Amino acid sequence: MQNDHSQKEMLWNKACEAREKAYAPYSRFFVGAAIETDKGKVFAGCNVENASYGATICAERVAILKAVSEGPLKVLRVAIVADSKGNAVPPCGMCLQVMAEFCNANTEVILGTPQKIEKVYKFADLLPAAFSKDFL
Ligand code: THU
Repeated sequence: MQNDHSQKEMLWNKACEAREKAYAPYSRFFVGAAIETDKGKVFAGCNVENASYGATICAERVAILKAVSEGPLKVLRVAIVADSKGNAVPPCGMCLQVMAEFCNANTEVILGTPQKIEKVYKFADLLPAAFSKDFL
């Protein structure tokens, strides 16, 4: 059984690897994400841009959609790797909403650069008042 620290590092590493695959010829902003599920599986994704810019999909959503398309799950941890002038970045609003569907308030969101893990949030820190199925 891996400890918490090495689980975070493992996930950050997977996100770094996924970032290498980013298809971002327009923005040149490369993002990788990796999620760990309640089933003990890891799925990774990168941003995939499109010449019709609005059709671009973020790394976080690619990772989550890959996972969900394999079966039902909850997300325990998410790692996101980018490099904004040497700094990590938080997920965009659209990704937070998709994350809200499969994460819970305590899901760990690990933000890093290719050099290091910079910050670890709880999902509820990033989206405290999420719209969810509870309102439907
Ligand atoms: N991007 C992500 O993949 N994740 C985020 O959380 C923020 C933005 C991507 C989308 C686009 O390909 C590029 O970064 C610039 O916005």
